[in-house]
Amino acid sequence: MSESDRDDPKRKWPDIERRAPADRRGPGAPRRTDRRAGADRRNDAAWESIPLELTLASDENSEDALVAAATDARTRAQARYSGFKVGAALETNGRAVITGCNIENATYGLTLCAERVALVKALSEGHSIFTRIAVVADTVDPTPPCGPCRQLLWEYCGDIEVILANLEKTTARLRLSTLLPMPFDGRLLE
Ligand code: THU
Repeated sequence: MSESDRDDPKRKWPDIERRAPADRRGPGAPRRTDRRAGADRRNDAAWESIPLELTLASDENSEDALVAAATDARTRAQARYSGFKVGAALETNGRAVITGCNIENATYGLTLCAERVALVKALSEGHSIFTRIAVVADTVDPTPPCGPCRQLLWEYCGDIEVILANLEKTTARLRLSTLLPMPFDGRLLE
């Protein structure tokens, strides 16, 4: 790909073509040369080939570390209106961990969820391939990402592992596709 191609504003996800095929777990870049029927393209979805390191990543120690990072980020939550503090820790394929906490404000509606804070921090720092996210809240039942967070995580992270934990233990461990089983994403815009 030439520099001028990369700068083409019509290219929607410039990162995707720099990834190795096994890493294209996200919804897939709209590739103008791919004219196969939609169902075919969906079957070909690269996120079905989960890299081995993602499968192996659930060893307890590294999960503990990810949850600990989210728990620590939660202490910085700006949740003066709801009192509901959330922390998130997003892991990259290179095992970097980018954290986020929820940030509320007086308009309420401009609230930023912990997951999205972690995601935008990671993207803006140049990370583009993700393996897992841990979300920590002080609830007995699992606190899953809200709908808008699921959408953005899906579009930018693909079918990552989602670890939900409270201050004592992991309460759920599932794939994002379980939380967002019929996603709207860029494939439909081709
Ligand atoms: N919140 C998150 O940060 N992540 C979630 O997964 C659920 C909700 C935040 C938003 C708001 O600041 C507070 O929790 C109550 O909704």
